[in-house]
Amino acid sequence: MEKRKPIVMSGIRPTGFLHLGNYFGAVRNYVKMQDEFECYFMIADIHSLTTHPDTRALKSHVQRVLAEYIACGLDPEKAAIYCQSHVYETGELYLYLNMLAYKGELEKTTTFKDKARSQPDNINAGLLTYPVLQAADIILHRASLVPVGKDQEQHLEMARTFANRFNHRYVEVFPEPQAFNYGDALIKIPGLDGAGKMSKSENQNATLYLADEDDVIRKKVMKAKTDSGPITPHSPKPDYIENIFLLMNLVSDEAVVRKFEDDFNNCSIRYGDMKKQLAEDMVNFIAPIRGRVNDILHDEKYLKQIMEMGAEKARKSAGVTMKLVRDAIGLSY
Ligand code: TYM
Repeated sequence: MEKRKPIVMSGIRPTGFLHLGNYFGAVRNYVKMQDEFECYFMIADIHSLTTHPDTRALKSHVQRVLAEYIACGLDPEKAAIYCQSHVYETGELYLYLNMLAYKGELEKTTTFKDKARSQPDNINAGLLTYPVLQAADIILHRASLVPVGKDQEQHLEMARTFANRFNHRYVEVFPEPQAFNYGDALIKIPGLDGAGKMSKSENQNATLYLADEDDVIRKKVMKAKTDSGPITPHSPKPDYIENIFLLMNLVSDEAVVRKFEDDFNNCSIRYGDMKKQLAEDMVNFIAPIRGRVNDILHDEKYLKQIMEMGAEKARKSAGVTMKLVRDAIGLSY
């Protein structure tokens, strides 16, 4: 029998426009991985219901994430690109995994505690079992590699726990899923304000979206927090300056970054010039993606086709796993 390639699974919630954090933490890896592995990339619409009960904008957000996936280079012929709610097997596996997840460990999850604090009137059970659903997404395809940003580390640890618990309680069905980033460490793209990270729904003035117009990009970058510059050669960089260098490293030429590093180290740096350069390099990076997204978004028929094709591939893989799961649990009479 032909050996199966390592399996990759990941997803993004359709709760707003994608930003540089989503791109560099997740999508950039997806695009590379689709050439090497068997890949499943999903739009986590069910997860979004835990925090966004108003679904009026859901369809347009799902279409946008899909268009952004394609505009960033995902290829529906290479990877399965699908919507979570189209793969009903996810719900079945989630149900079984819920019997392997304990209230105490779910209540201790950082994202649950944060959300419970930010939406005290809607601490729903879906919020509590969010990591169980995420584990179901991943192990439904028996994936072993999960490209994500640093903020998802704890969810991945929980996915491993649930997969291992299943294997020990019943029969070994699942590999241990690992968080993945080309490079090595998982990354966190910081906000431009020197506090927090880029985010789809919070911190919008400090977040660069793939949909931002050129002038908006320039304005946001020029407002990034700086100071009057170092006064001692080779001094350590404050966090907010480190962040600007980090962003520059992602989109600017090496020689440009080196010039500003040298300027910093010999105390001649002019942050205004640095931000102007970064703004132009950001514009050059984001504008072509934004243009492609706008073209793709016009073609609803094409978007629907991609989703249907992806769901078919995903359901095929899910079907094989669910047969193993039901047999392992003993649900085959
Ligand atoms: P979500 O929608 O919050 O984020 C999608 C991806 O973008 C990464 N990311 C970042 N990376 C670096 N810096 C940032 N500032 C930044 N902000 C977001 C996230 O780490 C993530 O990789 N629970 C998931 C969605 C999900 C999922 C899954 C992920 C559902 N099922 C199965 C992987 C596998 C989430 O809320 O991602």
